[in-house]
Amino acid sequence: MDLCIIGSGYVGLVSGACFAEVGHTVICVDNDQRKVDMLHRGEIPIYEPGLEELVLRNVAAKRLRFTNSIEEGVDHSQVVFIAVPTPPQADGSVDLTYIERVAREIAGVLKPGQYRVVVDKSTVPVKTGEKVEATIRRYNREAELDVVSNPEFLREGCAVPDLMHPDRIVIGSSSQRATDLMKRVYEPFQAPILVTDVNSAELIKHAANSFLSLKISYINAVSAICEASGADVEMVADGIGMDRRIGRNFLNAGLGYGGSCFPKDVKAFIAISDELGVPFHLLKEVENINAGQLERFLKKVREALWVLREKRICVWGLTFKPDTDDVRNSVAIDLIQHLVKEGAHVTAYDPKGMSKAVEHHLLPAGVKLTHSALEATEGAEALILATEWKEFANQDFSKVKEAMHTPLIFDGRNLFNPKTMREFGFTYHGVGRP
Ligand code: UGA
Repeated sequence: MDLCIIGSGYVGLVSGACFAEVGHTVICVDNDQRKVDMLHRGEIPIYEPGLEELVLRNVAAKRLRFTNSIEEGVDHSQVVFIAVPTPPQADGSVDLTYIERVAREIAGVLKPGQYRVVVDKSTVPVKTGEKVEATIRRYNREAELDVVSNPEFLREGCAVPDLMHPDRIVIGSSSQRATDLMKRVYEPFQAPILVTDVNSAELIKHAANSFLSLKISYINAVSAICEASGADVEMVADGIGMDRRIGRNFLNAGLGYGGSCFPKDVKAFIAISDELGVPFHLLKEVENINAGQLERFLKKVREALWVLREKRICVWGLTFKPDTDDVRNSVAIDLIQHLVKEGAHVTAYDPKGMSKAVEHHLLPAGVKLTHSALEATEGAEALILATEWKEFANQDFSKVKEAMHTPLIFDGRNLFNPKTMREFGFTYHGVGRP
């Protein structure tokens, strides 16, 4: 099929590449000329395992191309996906400016007799589909279209496998013609398809992300009880996770959830429910627990080091999770900001996140970045693990201990084995485990 994806960010670019990989012909549209130029040169603006090969292969096979022209994309495609950002506003509600602008732009280029399925892939509040359709019809009275909601569930860091082998495809549609076309788009993926109305599909995305955040906050609250009682949160998570009704996934205690989705989507779901007159109080507690988790961790650091001023602290990890270069809303960066504010000298290293952290000016002045994980530990009085990259688990810890001034580890993601670390001679503090 001929498809167009408007917006070449994490969701748009990876979806475009995967649609091309299964045989569709895809045009990715982006209004950022710099990004389009990069893609034309074969450079990928984001780091995502497997993405570069996928893009290069499908460009070479002429199934994938890039443009800044919405008209070219809409002319070429039966199905037009919208995958532009939906950032949060100051009050937590979703800023739909980009979606509205794209809807007007589509209206401006849709020609009479050109039936199109316009698909919302961005995470949007319930009832947005209705507004997108009304907007396109308002600016183009002859438009022939259906608007479908098709939320995306990929995770950064494993976006390609998530897209190629999804747990489910959700298609929110009120038109059989549009549903049939969407089923053809997804047929090659051999995944279960759930067809719903548009509002339900939109709600599914916010409800899913909020539920996963709730799972993380639940185990983080349990980790506090473990610390107070001497129990081990990893064993508790294994024990409850073996119940198939609960499942072990997303029960990893740590510094809390971050990134460009969970914090924003929980806030958005709170704002949406408030607006609908049915406040979702439970989600406010999910947020409180998440914020408290970093606070409790910092308290442990202060208890061990007493005063942070002038202390040399090494932080491993800047990204909000491993296998990505994304540093947006990263708890690792929040942590560094707290440490620097209290006067510590921070040295940090991340396998992929350092250039974006610098480019977006996210690090406070004075933070020193190094070329390797080991180099960052030199002379440190404490090592804090903030993001669980495999590279950190694979370090030679006898060298790390030698490099450090005092062998003290705070493992914010329970990556290391406490017993092994103690055998190396470190004083070890994890989250919710003795
Ligand atoms: C999340 C969802 O998992 C995806 O299904 C969804 O498509 C995406 O948001 C989105 O809305 O676009 P993502 O934010 O990329 O994906 O990454 P996750 O793997 O979900 O991690 C989010 C945060 O939760 C990270 O900071 C991670 O460290 C934290 N986390 C995750 C935990 O603290 N504990 C866990 O057990 C799992």
